[in-house]
Amino acid sequence: MYVCSCFGITEQEVRAHAAAGACTPRQIARRCSAGTDCGSCVRRIQGLLGRGALPRRASALPAGAPAAAPAGVSGAVSAPPAPSAVAAPPAAVEA
Ligand code: FES
Repeated sequence: MYVCSCFGITEQEVRAHAAAGACTPRQIARRCSAGTDCGSCVRRIQGLLGRGALPRRASALPAGAPAAAPAGVSGAVSAPPAPSAVAAPPAAVEA
């Protein structure tokens, strides 16, 4: 089955390159040009290499990282207000 229709590269060819030492889509591309034209096969090549699909940018953020704010919305998270000065005890009334 074809993986890269731009260059007519089959799954078997990609696996053969992988067995010969290519372990990234870039290394596959150097050997047979797969993935260097339209790029639509790169995720498939990654899958064949056992690398899974590329994470989407949003999901590539580490857990707990703030997501990008939509346009027009400030992404800045405002800090909580500084604690106000501790209320001074009432002045002693001197008689
Ligand atoms: S399908 Fe592989 S570069 Fe286009």
